Amino acid sequence: MTEPAHLAAVRASYDAIAADYLRLVVPPEGMDPLSRAMLAAFAELVRESGGGDVADLGCGPGRVTAYLDGLGLSAFGVDVSGEMIALARRAYPRLRFLQGSMDALDLPDGALGGVLAWYSVHHTPPARLPDLFTEFHRVLAPGGHLLLGGHTGDAWLNPAQAYGHPVSYTAHMLPAARLAALLDAAGFTVTTRLEQPNPRREDRSYVCLLAEARKG
Ligand SMILES: C[S@@+](CC[C@H](N)C(=O)[O-])C[C@H]1O[C@@H](n2cnc3c(N)ncnc32)[C@H](O)[C@@H]1O
Repeated sequence: MTEPAHLAAVRASYDAIAADYLRLVVPPEGMDPLSRAMLAAFAELVRESGGGDVADLGCGPGRVTAYLDGLGLSAFGVDVSGEMIALARRAYPRLRFLQGSMDALDLPDGALGGVLAWYSVHHTPPARLPDLFTEFHRVLAPGGHLLLGGHTGDAWLNPAQAYGHPVSYTAHMLPAARLAALLDAAGFTVTTRLEQPNPRREDRSYVCLLAEARKG
């Protein structure tokens, strides 16, 4: 099957920036308290629902996967970038990291107790989000939990550079309400929506959406 163009661009870009991303981006322990609270709430909800495996989709260098492991979850990571996966495996040899696309997961239906997509869905073109969220729903057991964190807004960006390297990806910012509506249409009940202003950009904010997979 031919790979969609956006995926090739995401892979090449994150392969190039992986080491500097790891050096420059704040680790989970240094995140703002509300984002950490959402990760902790997600972990508690998954544990209370009986646990099960949790996929960190678009895991990058694996630091959030390891943070979830520290919160008592059986977490593994998936990322399309081979360089990101190599960094994650090197830093956390005890954890499992798989190279692949979150659009087409090599997992049976209902295999997971939780899915985390942390700052990773904004590279998927909006027209592809219904299929992406349907894939998240497919791999979750009924009642399984999803935490989606990311940028929101109403714009798309084609930065020439990121973290000091040329990149070819696009970042699509959607309003939080549109993301929530897309999740609902894919079979999720959105239970919590947290929006925080981005102190550096008036036109953007940060969002966390917690959702539960409905049956069927
Ligand atoms: C901004 S980084 C976030 C990494 C990590 N979640 C974190 O918070 O440190 C976005 C990551 O998502 C990955 N990614 C984007 N689209 C993807 C897709 N369709 N399948 C798998 N990984 C993807 C990129 O390769 C990159 O590593």
